[in-house]
Amino acid sequence: MSSVLVTYYSRTGNTKEMAEHVAKGAEQAGGDVKLASVDRVDASELAGYDAIIVGSPTYYGSMAAEVKELIDKSVQLHGKLTDRVGAAFASSAHVGGGNETTALDLIHAFLIHGMVVPGIHDGDHYGPVSVGEPDSRVRKQCEQLGDRVVELAAKLAQ
Ligand SMILES: Cc1cc2nc3c(=O)[nH]c(=O)nc-3n(C[C@H](O)[C@H](O)[C@H](O)COP(=O)(O)O)c2cc1C
Repeated sequence: MSSVLVTYYSRTGNTKEMAEHVAKGAEQAGGDVKLASVDRVDASELAGYDAIIVGSPTYYGSMAAEVKELIDKSVQLHGKLTDRVGAAFASSAHVGGGNETTALDLIHAFLIHGMVVPGIHDGDHYGPVSVGEPDSRVRKQCEQLGDRVVELAAKLAQ
């Protein structure tokens, strides 16, 4: 069974709701899932997961400082997350408000860690993005991401 961390920062609930749907998808796919806001995650524990999925609101086109803090603290594990799965999701207020650049900034960090990032050919390509409150389309994208990550982690474990 793949172990999956779904972690997020959320001030007004949009990213949190996305995270809950990502976790639901991962659980339904058979993952052993921990869902926690970033302030409840110690960077030292990241190496204990087969997959790490991170969500952030868009703040000035990138991730919130609270999320970046966890990413920066993950330097203590540099070289130890190779071939783990990394995936991202993001929320914003506006279409074109930077949700994709936020997801991509997270993905850059995963790639620098040597992690494996699933691209998505038939949905939000870099990870689920929401404008404001997640609607049914976004909720489905989030659940599909959770499912996809568990499947990919299982393949990598073979
Ligand atoms: C400091 C700050 C910066 C923001 N910058 C952007 C931005 O660049 N583009 C955008 O579309 N929304 C921006 N927003 C809006 C949030 O990304 C948006 O409301 C998001 O859904 C909040 O997520 P949450 O409900 O999980 O806290 C910003 C909000 C704050 C507080």
